Amino acid sequence: MYNNINTTILQDERVDGADKTNGKAKYTAEYQLANLAYGVFVTSNIAKGTVKELDISKAIAAPGVLDVIYYANCPAVPGYNPNASERPKNVNEWRGHKVLYDNKVRFFGQPIALIVADSFENANAAIRLVKAVYDKEEHETNFDVLRKDSTKLKPAVTYKRGQEKAFATASKFIEAEYNIPIEVHLPMEMHATIAYWEGEDKITLYDKTQGPKSTQSTVARTFGLQEKNVRVIAENVGGGFGSGLRSWANVPAACIASKKLNRPVKIVLTRPQMFNLAGYRPQSWQKIGIGADATGKFIGITHEAISNTSKYEDFREGIVNVSRFLYAVDNVDTKYNVLPLDLSTPIWMRGPGEASGCFALESAIDELSYQLNMDPIDLRIKNFTDINPENKMPFSAINLKDCYAYGKEKIGWKSRPTKPGTLKENGMYIGYGMAVGVFGAGKGTASVRAVFSKDGRLVLECAVSDMGPGTTTSMTKIASTSMQMPLDKIKFKLGDSDFPAGPSQGGSGTTSTVGSAVDMACKTLQQNLKELAIQFAPSFANKLITEMEVKNEYVFLTTDASVKISVIDLMKLSNKEVLDITITSNGNNPSQMKYTSNSFSAHFVKLGVNPKTGKVKLLKVVTTGDNGKVISPKTARSQMLGGVVGGIGMALTEQVQIDHTTGQIINSSFGTYQVPLHSMIPPIDVWFVDKPDYNVNSIGAKGLGEIALIGFSAAVANAVYNATGKRLRDLPITPEKINLKKA
Ligand code: MOS
Repeated sequence: MYNNINTTILQDERVDGADKTNGKAKYTAEYQLANLAYGVFVTSNIAKGTVKELDISKAIAAPGVLDVIYYANCPAVPGYNPNASERPKNVNEWRGHKVLYDNKVRFFGQPIALIVADSFENANAAIRLVKAVYDKEEHETNFDVLRKDSTKLKPAVTYKRGQEKAFATASKFIEAEYNIPIEVHLPMEMHATIAYWEGEDKITLYDKTQGPKSTQSTVARTFGLQEKNVRVIAENVGGGFGSGLRSWANVPAACIASKKLNRPVKIVLTRPQMFNLAGYRPQSWQKIGIGADATGKFIGITHEAISNTSKYEDFREGIVNVSRFLYAVDNVDTKYNVLPLDLSTPIWMRGPGEASGCFALESAIDELSYQLNMDPIDLRIKNFTDINPENKMPFSAINLKDCYAYGKEKIGWKSRPTKPGTLKENGMYIGYGMAVGVFGAGKGTASVRAVFSKDGRLVLECAVSDMGPGTTTSMTKIASTSMQMPLDKIKFKLGDSDFPAGPSQGGSGTTSTVGSAVDMACKTLQQNLKELAIQFAPSFANKLITEMEVKNEYVFLTTDASVKISVIDLMKLSNKEVLDITITSNGNNPSQMKYTSNSFSAHFVKLGVNPKTGKVKLLKVVTTGDNGKVISPKTARSQMLGGVVGGIGMALTEQVQIDHTTGQIINSSFGTYQVPLHSMIPPIDVWFVDKPDYNVNSIGAKGLGEIALIGFSAAVANAVYNATGKRLRDLPITPEKINLKKA
């Protein structure tokens, strides 16, 4: 009864799979340049204050050390405008913490100096020789305490439709608070930059970034350069999850050091530094009130949230937004504040906003379903809407009900106990839970160059990056479909700012945005080939483009397939070496303006809870995606698997811990910041609706990177409640929080 794409044996279709497996694929830190120097950061041991004195004399005399750069000897950086606040309005400025610029300390572990040496080891060895004397000031890092002090919060952003707090007028309602700690992206590849100046006003960087063009423009505006004189290469990126969506201290520091020393400089963050020098998901507190009438129809939702930012920048995300549009409800009010703390600035992390928001909303709906004595899936269907109630526009496509049907069947929902804590298997309490994820699915602007050669090969170029989802593969597949030519004759090149402009890889937008441009470029090439046939191939003279087709490397007549010419013969006949075009596909096409577009997911979990230890064991996961057409089943499935693993981490293990007496992160390693173990991952059934959504773009595909994770943590929390009767609203759900012995 279910479609093919999910049951087909997945061929290894990853075009870069072999290179990534055999080590041929190069990542930023792996590039070796002649005369390369190595930079390492010396970081602060206080959370707030000033560096009164920095003694670098011993470090500078240490073996191999070339320089120690800090505020007193750092060359002027044009974009480090001394008159600017830390939140500049001027576009020609570096945004964020100005590394090596002044003696202020804004968070524990902030870089206060850069040691540059002839080897990584020599640079590292000199760190302990730098002595800092601080003037310490009182720091604020304790979110749980400070969020209660309204004077500490930035002004709220509010939204209201209908009546405020209408949920409390409903016959059944609940109101509860939810807490999510700081979580960190921790991609396998550390953030790294190699910078070298090719002249006074020209620089090249190898950089771990999700956006070669974004890094290019950051470096250009920081160092007062023309964009065309900044080249950024990020051919392979070993994971990002959002941490590569802006440039961090390693980027300007490498540029500064390279200029000062007049040689290439490489900086690679350490794993502990990855915890606070490359962003993180902010800590959040949420409160949701939700009420329904006796039939389950939602009466009102009130959703409040506070998340942390740094003292020197505002970072905001749409935590409460999901409550405004996912379900049919007339009365919604939301409120969102940020709380500045003496920590580094957060950034988007997989499913930014919605990952936190859906944890709370989808937990609240589950909780309400027990009050109503109603199946939580039925409750969601009862409040289903195919018109976005916030902007009143129809969803371009929404097939969540198909996801529910599949998940229900495959997880074995009929065995779910309606009364929590009543089902036992193998000595464990068994529970079933589900939750929904949603994320915006737009299409932006991208340019693509397509070069079709006389040997019948096609090369495409776009300055996007591939942080791991398989963009190279999916773009090659889109080109293969649009050009109707074999995969192995197509090469898609990315990760170089010299290529035509593409978006940063973020917000699950790459396939839709760049894929549309690839499709457009290929269709243009097809058109060009038809025109060449009319012009140069005698059998096509006087024929119309509309009666011609390009397929399997031939141009032929649709009315008489025996009239044909191979594309290679055609290129020869027309005396062309290449057809070389660059096209731009714009965002906001007219049909896109008539609809509101999202990708959706529904996650289903079966788990057991050990009554003695409170330990959760996931037994089965069914995860379903409603994201339009699936371009590459293998890489799409892998994305969903990754989302589930990330979701298990969010639900059960991951949390940054801060010692508030010092402001220091005390678990900045994989030994102490727990990510899910392999043994915690159950069999995962991945399924896609796989219905093209042509209202969004010509290829019918929407993103799935975010929806793979969004909502998953709520599915786990809901299953834990179903198993034990314990409603856990603070992540991660650790055994001591479940604590059935004392219950
Ligand atoms: Mo994703 S958080 O948009 O890299």
